[in-house]
Amino acid sequence: MVNLASKQTLREDSINVLKQNDYGTYTVPALGLYPFQWNWDTGFVAAGWAVYDVDRAWTEIETLFAGQWADGMIPSILFWKPSDTYFPGPEIWGTKENPSNSTGISQPPIAAVIVRYLYEYTAKNNPQLAREKISTLFPKLLAYHRWWYKARDPLNTGLVAILHPWESGMDNSPAWDDALKAFPVGDIPPYERQDTKHVNASMRPSKDTYDHYLSLLYRPFSCENQLTGKLVNARISGAFLPLFAGVATEEQAAVLASTLQHWLDGVKYGVPSADPFEPQFDPIKYWSGPLWININWMISSGLRHYGYDELGERIERESLSVIQESGMREYFNPINGEGAGGESFSWTAALYLAWLDDSVLQHAT
Ligand code: GLC
Repeated sequence: MVNLASKQTLREDSINVLKQNDYGTYTVPALGLYPFQWNWDTGFVAAGWAVYDVDRAWTEIETLFAGQWADGMIPSILFWKPSDTYFPGPEIWGTKENPSNSTGISQPPIAAVIVRYLYEYTAKNNPQLAREKISTLFPKLLAYHRWWYKARDPLNTGLVAILHPWESGMDNSPAWDDALKAFPVGDIPPYERQDTKHVNASMRPSKDTYDHYLSLLYRPFSCENQLTGKLVNARISGAFLPLFAGVATEEQAAVLASTLQHWLDGVKYGVPSADPFEPQFDPIKYWSGPLWININWMISSGLRHYGYDELGERIERESLSVIQESGMREYFNPINGEGAGGESFSWTAALYLAWLDDSVLQHAT
């Protein structure tokens, strides 16, 4: 790897990425590739805006909540302005009952953690403003979380159900392979992908996987695999997130920390999105192996929360290094640190900024 950029230069680059992707009241994840407002991207992006401009951070979150459905759901994508550089757009989703055009599924609810952070950050200088903001947002957050319990845990199992891999935010994770295979590709109209016009196809989900994604959209949302009652047996980086949520017991945290140590032996830069010792691991294919900065940010924060400071610092150090070496990419090859997917990617830039400002991390868990 060459041309290590200095922290100061990268700080400026990060701010420039956010400004470049700023549509005024929301920030798109990457120009062209993802030209709308995404749900969990909004949370990470707001953490970055807060370091630079806390008012802009509130606006980011408020715009997301402006797209909340009457039942409390917040869609994974809000199609505020038309764009022809993304597929499948609003014409395929065909949702009607909401304030804006949107998808009909959600994404991981990071918003509450970020809103709490923004509240505490704002309260230090302007307690009245912080109270005003939180009193407007709190009922909306509550409705959103109640929606998750009601609509995504219908059997009251304590496990979150998802209706589409996109709802997990980790689209082609090996965790969904079996369920997708059990769900046959339906009779879907011909379609033209846009993502592979922006990014090399080897770094994106396969055609077969996309056929399955579309089949799920065109058919009733039902999921065969729920009927098997079997837990998904795939080793993915999402498994470390109970540390971030603070719901793991001390014993579980110890197992997660030692599993993570083992995974790190298989790569140069942690954390790979799938177990690097498993056959499904692919270091450049989206959620089947690459390192993602948003997941690292949560894992690092969670490890510190449980007292695994050294490991948490290592994940932070490796994340900052990979950005210093390869720039603000969407994801990174954990074996050699090369960047992959989209360029000038908002949450990578935002979390780099947040990482440089320690107070964001302290408040995240
Ligand atoms: C991809 C990612 C998803 C992200 C979106 C926008 O679909 O899998 O997690 O929210 O892009 O960045």
